[in-house]
Amino acid sequence: MGCSSSTPSARLLVILTCAARTAATTVSVTQDVWRESAASAQAAAKPDWAAADRQCIATIASAKPPYLSYDGRDTTEPKLCRVDHGGPVDADKTTVLMFVNAPQYLEQRGNWEAFLNKASYCRRTRRRFYIWIGVPPSNVLNARVDAPWARCRDKTRGLENTLNGVKNLAFLALFDDPSIDKVMYMDTDMWVSSEEIEPEAYFALTDADLLGNQNRVGGPKIPMNGGLVFARKSEFTQQFFALWWRGRCGAHDQLPLWATLFAAWSAATDGAYSFNDEHFKKYSHAHLEAVSLLQRDAMYIRQKANMEGPYDGGNFSATGLLDVPLALPHVLLLPSAPVGSLPAVRSDPVRSRPTFVCHTRIDKDEYGQCVGADVCAAGRCAPFLALTSKSSFAMGRFVLLGFFVALNAAVLSRRPALRRRLAERVLALFSGGR
Ligand SMILES: *[C@@H]1O[C@H](CO)[C@@H](O)[C@H](O)[C@H]1NC(C)=O
Repeated sequence: MGCSSSTPSARLLVILTCAARTAATTVSVTQDVWRESAASAQAAAKPDWAAADRQCIATIASAKPPYLSYDGRDTTEPKLCRVDHGGPVDADKTTVLMFVNAPQYLEQRGNWEAFLNKASYCRRTRRRFYIWIGVPPSNVLNARVDAPWARCRDKTRGLENTLNGVKNLAFLALFDDPSIDKVMYMDTDMWVSSEEIEPEAYFALTDADLLGNQNRVGGPKIPMNGGLVFARKSEFTQQFFALWWRGRCGAHDQLPLWATLFAAWSAATDGAYSFNDEHFKKYSHAHLEAVSLLQRDAMYIRQKANMEGPYDGGNFSATGLLDVPLALPHVLLLPSAPVGSLPAVRSDPVRSRPTFVCHTRIDKDEYGQCVGADVCAAGRCAPFLALTSKSSFAMGRFVLLGFFVALNAAVLSRRPALRRRLAERVLALFSGGR
């Protein structure tokens, strides 16, 4: 049936039918469409990231109480600050990146410890560490531009967009620095768990430019989490971050992340792979359905893009959980499982095995695999903060008490001033210590 008719009532019926039919559109992204969209997104993003002050240097002026010092903490423009962790850096190592809207958010309990952990890790593994601080003006942040493959219709937060997408501007600004070629972005509350592991080992698994992972095992199943992103600088990643930013839509930056991924995979097949854009209008829908779409279509995309090799996602098409890496055009999705000798990047169903990073708040414990309170344990925040884990802190207090009693008995009966000082120290530890 065509979409035209003669009598008025028949015409109305036809209009309604056609409206229902066109509400969902199958989109195929040709390479031309991808390139044109990317070029306009890159041009539009440039003033947004170029507005940032990129000369900024931040220092940990005080670990406790928290205080980050930089440029007078001026808030008139976003800043991309190099964190001076006090150690030498190797030019070819992956740069670590994070983003906050304001220093006060960074300095909140938990976020601050995760920041010190990152600074310590970068210092010990001799790599650069950058933090983007600030957000663009609200008319920029809340702009909504439809892509040929995704029409933003998310109203869960009115017409506002989350500020989480600002990380894309930080990627683009870092990639403008010719000396930077690999970046690992980590969310504010994410920290490095396994100090022997370095991001280069994950990059070495693949020639893909973008690496990501799913959620924590047991959390909602999604194609990729936006909290941990590894990226090699390339034409593709520069296009990708500009398009992810342009797709900002509502309260979650993962909606445009997934839409842009599927568009990239369609483009890699020059449109031979197509998908229904209904999936990417609203986060609530995408959050439930995007993983099913990928489960159904991953093998087809790989086939259309002539991809071979062992990284086929394992049982992903049946379970929705990657147990083997999944290689798709330009992208490697890392599994919730070890890869060879490398630990799972973020979550492993075998709780006794460690992961590379933890995305666990300071008061949370993921069954011992990631214990938030251990963010600074075992020297993970050294030399900035020498916090031990809760249990070893308690043990330290116990040992100190033992010393106090023994010394008191043996020596202190003849040294009243020293005894008083020790008593004050012990009392302070037991009353004030966390
Ligand atoms: C896939 O599932 C099967 C059956 O549950 C299991 O035996 C196998 O180990 C799984 N594969 C991987 C790579 O985990």
